[in-house]
Amino acid sequence: MAAPIRTAVFPGSFDPITNGHLDLIDQAARLCDRVIVAVLKNTRKTPFFPVDERLAILRDVLAGRSGVEVDAFAGLLVDYARAKGAGVVIRGVRSAADLDYERQMALTNRHLDPRVDTVLLLPSAEFSHVSSTLVREIATLGGSVRGLVPPAVESWIERRTHGPETRTV
Ligand code: PNS
Repeated sequence: MAAPIRTAVFPGSFDPITNGHLDLIDQAARLCDRVIVAVLKNTRKTPFFPVDERLAILRDVLAGRSGVEVDAFAGLLVDYARAKGAGVVIRGVRSAADLDYERQMALTNRHLDPRVDTVLLLPSAEFSHVSSTLVREIATLGGSVRGLVPPAVESWIERRTHGPETRTV
């Protein structure tokens, strides 16, 4: 009998994807046969990049990585995971504060659906200070995000911050 395909969902806002996320996606791809990087469609937040652009950025950055897919979801993560045939949720933990939050989320998801397990991964030390929030702040204030995000994301940020639609002159 063939071994079952292990599918994982890596959910998040990915606004934008950072080098820390990329490191975690590569770790997840080594552990699982199929990794779905799933962007939450959250209409309550004012995003830096809208969901369709975040999906385009992810597809751009992750092109060529075998077993890695990009998707968007709304509603409960556990419902999405089961609909995709995923029994694993991947999340990253950079710090004690992250662990507190991730622990609460993992246990809540287990309460909602015990068939979905959460796997918490550590990003490499060189990325443990990197966050999308700080990347957005640096980009908004005109700083360089080189080394914090994949090169393709730098180009998207450049377009976002210097594009014609954001010029106020
Ligand atoms: O990158 P983020 O913003 O930390 O990701 C948070 C995310 C998308 C993983 C989380 O908000 C989520 O899973 N939302 C879906 C709604 C849900 O299932 N909530 C109950 C579980 S805590």
